[in-house]
Amino acid sequence: MPMNRRRFLAAGMGVGLLTHREHHVNADENVDRIDPTKLTKSNVPTPALLLDLDLFEANVKTMAEHCQRAGRGFRPHAKTHKCPEIAKQQMKAGALGISVATVPEAEAMVAAGITGVLLTSPIVEPAKIARMVALIQHGGQVMLSVGHPRQIELLAEAAGAAEVNVDVLVDVDIGDRRTGILPGQPAVELAQLIAKQKRLRIRGVQSYAGLASHVVGFEARDKVSREVMAKSVETRELLSKAGFDASILSGGSTGTYNIDSKIRGVTELQVGSYVFMDLDYRRNGGKTSGENYSDFHHSLTVLATVVNATHADRVSVDAGTKALDTTTTYKPEAKSWPGLTYNRGGDEFGILTVEPGEKLPRIGDRLEFIVPHCDPTTNLYDRIYATRGEKVEAVWPIAARRERVAGL
Ligand SMILES: Cc1ncc(COP(=O)(O)O)c(C=O)c1O
Repeated sequence: MPMNRRRFLAAGMGVGLLTHREHHVNADENVDRIDPTKLTKSNVPTPALLLDLDLFEANVKTMAEHCQRAGRGFRPHAKTHKCPEIAKQQMKAGALGISVATVPEAEAMVAAGITGVLLTSPIVEPAKIARMVALIQHGGQVMLSVGHPRQIELLAEAAGAAEVNVDVLVDVDIGDRRTGILPGQPAVELAQLIAKQKRLRIRGVQSYAGLASHVVGFEARDKVSREVMAKSVETRELLSKAGFDASILSGGSTGTYNIDSKIRGVTELQVGSYVFMDLDYRRNGGKTSGENYSDFHHSLTVLATVVNATHADRVSVDAGTKALDTTTTYKPEAKSWPGLTYNRGGDEFGILTVEPGEKLPRIGDRLEFIVPHCDPTTNLYDRIYATRGEKVEAVWPIAARRERVAGL
């Protein structure tokens, strides 16, 4: 039986975590009460996160078909969207499961009935480890990534206490120097430690290479990704030779999906941004599309309203840094207003300017902006308005945006 949010809570997975009523009446349930039939792009309160369903569905299909043709699995990364409804569509398209970056993301996906959840980030806080183990104890299909002996100790202790078996992937650091164990012998030694724990089962390897995914220019990206992924492939082979189950090698990204899926030994892709696409990715350059990486469409936008037009040379919109992540060097881009420049105007506002002689939007005008970086922008919202043409077709909760305090 799929585990929905209510069943998840009733099963007691939330006990001790969500005991206060306030925390049950969270953003997700408020979103459930919105009637989307009353909403269009002209009356959604701004700033608002919009998803163009036609473009999103095309992205989901393109990636699924690519992986099918390449004979690889895919376990899309929910760090991009944190949205169980989007995860469900990725699963419907053939995903093996869903990758997640945080414990609340894992809980939200399991509660929505998603199977094959892979936590790609390391966790070392006992309370978080206990929550992951509780998910498994209550029937959730979840794997964890481990890259350090201390994680193994803590996880084995929690799994032993709960009397559950936990599937793990060895997280291999192939160059980012951020998470994971070093490839080769250090990874084999870590696997030997895992094998000593009777409640832990090695299932393979995971490697993410941020240093490859954002290399500008397809050929350069191809070279970097092949170089670094070779370390992971080799480690998988070493594990296999040493007698460990190394069925899985999960890796890759939107930037390298059509590179890594050709590398022998990579079994599945943990692609994230492809569902939304952002400006940061567009400048990466594509295999056949030249400077602009256009394999996937910009399905995600932020809708904003012009709230001030006092000055002849500028107008202000109600989307500042609280509505649009502007930490990349790329500025939000107005979707159907060429020649417009978005400038940071503080927490609440963006300032729009145009070349001399060009027309500025007027007070009350609503504009959609393609986002510079999708993951941190999505993280600013508690819902996404799924649109078809001008109409809102559904309003989906962006679950698990924040970490909860244990016991509250
Ligand atoms: C561990 C891990 N896997 C996969 C991804 C997905 O990458 P992308 O959004 O570039 O597809 C990320 C993104 O940061 C990541 O951190």
